[in-house]
Amino acid sequence: MKLFEPITIRSMVVSNRIVYPAIQLNMGMNGRRARAFYSERARGGAGLILTANTAIDNFACEDLWGGTAGLNDFVKRLRLFTSEVHDAGGKIGVQLWQANRFPQGKGVQAAGKEMYPDSGESVAPSALEDRRALTLPEIDSIIYRFAKGARNVREAGFDCVEIHGAHSYLLAQFSNPATNQRADQFGGDLAGRMKLGVDIVKAMRAFVGPDFPILFRLGALEEDGKIHPDSLLYAQELEKAGVDCLDISTGGWGPNPVSPGKKQPMGTFIYLAEPIKKVVKIPVIAVGRINTPEVAESILEKGQADLVAIGRQLITDPYWPLKVKENRLEEIVACESCSINCFAPAFERKLPPDAPLCKNNPLAGKEWEEKV
Ligand SMILES: Cc1cc2nc3c(=O)[nH]c(=O)nc-3n(C[C@H](O)[C@H](O)[C@H](O)COP(=O)(O)O)c2cc1C
Repeated sequence: MKLFEPITIRSMVVSNRIVYPAIQLNMGMNGRRARAFYSERARGGAGLILTANTAIDNFACEDLWGGTAGLNDFVKRLRLFTSEVHDAGGKIGVQLWQANRFPQGKGVQAAGKEMYPDSGESVAPSALEDRRALTLPEIDSIIYRFAKGARNVREAGFDCVEIHGAHSYLLAQFSNPATNQRADQFGGDLAGRMKLGVDIVKAMRAFVGPDFPILFRLGALEEDGKIHPDSLLYAQELEKAGVDCLDISTGGWGPNPVSPGKKQPMGTFIYLAEPIKKVVKIPVIAVGRINTPEVAESILEKGQADLVAIGRQLITDPYWPLKVKENRLEEIVACESCSINCFAPAFERKLPPDAPLCKNNPLAGKEWEEKV
């Protein structure tokens, strides 16, 4: 099967085409719970694993860790995490992210593991509702922190880094004319709206060197149910700037929920990934309810994408890849695309405190308990 063919992304050899995408489950990275959770996805056969969206400040801000030594210590301690995932047979990268908050004074954008920080001001490309527009020095600082953060990701032993440019967060707001009404070089025409993403990639490349793979999760915009031509051009500009792989999701606006429900088709966002795949040379990842081997294999066979991101299905059944490879299909535990338990930690849905991260997998998020 094509699903089990290796692929090289810049210097990184991924053993198959299966990606566990970034999923915020509020478990951080530096504890045994996270080590067990992510290692289990590697043991189950996912070739490439991405961590949850992680504030750039976690990897770039000394103040968050009480000084340079503290940040260096955080980075050093992560080597336990990366080596456990490597021992379990997977590659692992961090998804770096800037939400819509900005540090105040010496504060930080997001403290530790929290997804929604209570520190920081709400910001946006242009003033919007309760958000104020970012200043040019602040934009420079965001670019710098992405670049510096990525270098620390590399230092911690990760295999790659992903820039979160989707799901209505700050970078996606810059590329969207509906939310970017700036009149300076970071707004206006498409070149201006793409500039933040492109500048981050260029700065990051300078910081991580020529070999380290940079992935970009692009929130593709759509028009009349088709990809918007701006997103095709943005993908090409990102490739020129030094991106090694494009992970195509949605903008997070409009009728498309980021995590589609069971009424939406399998391979939900293929119609966004496929046209991008046609205009770039770098590998493209598709996502959205790619829950069955038939759908996954057909996407690869038809050349609609080079890799498939399988999110919630691998929370439900981390051994999906191995079971497919060994043709043990009847053993697969299916994800119902309900987003109930998995959404609870990050989106504050009330569940009993000991609920697993998937109602169909009593061990989801409790893998470490099995180890003690
Ligand atoms: C609980 C939850 C948290 C998520 N967090 C992130 C995230 O941190 N970064 C990101 O890019 N996508 C995030 N996503 C989106 C997934 O990566 C994926 O694109 C989406 O769930 C569709 O894939 P699936 O149908 O295979 O789950 C999240 C999805 C879920 C269910």
